[in-house]
Amino acid sequence: MNVLITGASGFIGGHLCAALQGAGHRVVALVRRGRPFPDRVPVPICEYAPDALSETISRFGAKDGLDAVVHAAGKINGSADGLREANEAMTRTVVAGLEQSGADASLVYLSSVSAIGPLGSYGASKRAAEQVIASSNLRRWTILRPSLVYGPGDTKNVARLVEAVRAWPIVPVIGAGGVRLQPLYVGDLCDVIRHVLDGAGEARGIYTVAGPRQERLVDMIRLIRQRLGRRNVLLPLPLRPIQVAVRLARPLLSRTSFPVQQVVTLHDHPAWDAARAVEQLSFRPRRFEEGLSMMIPQVARPAEGIGAAA
Ligand SMILES: NC(=O)c1ccc[n+]([C@@H]2O[C@H](COP(=O)([O-])OP(=O)(O)OC[C@H]3O[C@@H](n4cnc5c(N)ncnc54)[C@H](OP(=O)(O)O)[C@@H]3O)[C@@H](O)[C@H]2O)c1
Repeated sequence: MNVLITGASGFIGGHLCAALQGAGHRVVALVRRGRPFPDRVPVPICEYAPDALSETISRFGAKDGLDAVVHAAGKINGSADGLREANEAMTRTVVAGLEQSGADASLVYLSSVSAIGPLGSYGASKRAAEQVIASSNLRRWTILRPSLVYGPGDTKNVARLVEAVRAWPIVPVIGAGGVRLQPLYVGDLCDVIRHVLDGAGEARGIYTVAGPRQERLVDMIRLIRQRLGRRNVLLPLPLRPIQVAVRLARPLLSRTSFPVQQVVTLHDHPAWDAARAVEQLSFRPRRFEEGLSMMIPQVARPAEGIGAAA
């Protein structure tokens, strides 16, 4: 299939390019003009001027036999306006380009479990983007709602925990052990998208794709600590006061890479249910411990080193 990928310079987009190309598709990465594109992503790129995304997709569709667009561009943090622009408005542009192209191409959109609710400004912008797709004329679309995604090349979420455990002797644990997350390995998300492109699932479907079970944040940090062979002290911090402080400092923090959205929307909820994706999209998420071992290769202890046997 001829597949265009938006957000190809990002963490998930980069993995997707490699995975879909590896599966035999002809992949082109759509990249904003003048933005850096990592050498490690082995696919042709098509640069577009920010105000010409719709025309670029439409041109592709009209002349190159476009089969699918995987829309993986988007923003997770920032001001409400910035999130609306990068998530809702950009999705509107992608959909318009596809509709104008006349190609009978399908659209796969990376939304988020945050669109399920309760809605912060990130979740609201993702939900609005979903509604743009659901009310389009496209014949085939799939909306995937991933939970927290991690894996090699990640620079946010789990990667921040890894960096903290590497660098700090004392690691704060937000929520004092009560916070739970449902980490999803990036390769498992790519596998689902491969199945969708192969025709799995409903013609117009929304699927939650979450890690296999909830993990307590403190246990995730312990696993990372074990993986890195560290003995950091874990410092439990209560969730509510931190959320209040982050909300108050939001105008300042929104301009930094601090994960404002993730912290203020942390709450206790039942595990996300990915049963429909398991059943219809052959979704087989791996345990965090296994995914982590692929993200952080085991640190060789001296006795296990290459020289040890000699
Ligand atoms: N990572 C997660 O845990 C997670 C979980 C659930 C859902 N998602 C969703 O998955 C998608 C990809 O996430 P990611 O972790 O790969 O993010 P990422 O590493 O930050 O990559 C985001 C990509 O989107 C592009 N982008 C951002 N704002 C844009 C804009 N205004 N116009 C055009 N392109 C823009 C970026 O391009 P530049 O490099 O040019 O800035 C980059 O290629 C996002 O939509 C996110 O909401 C992620």
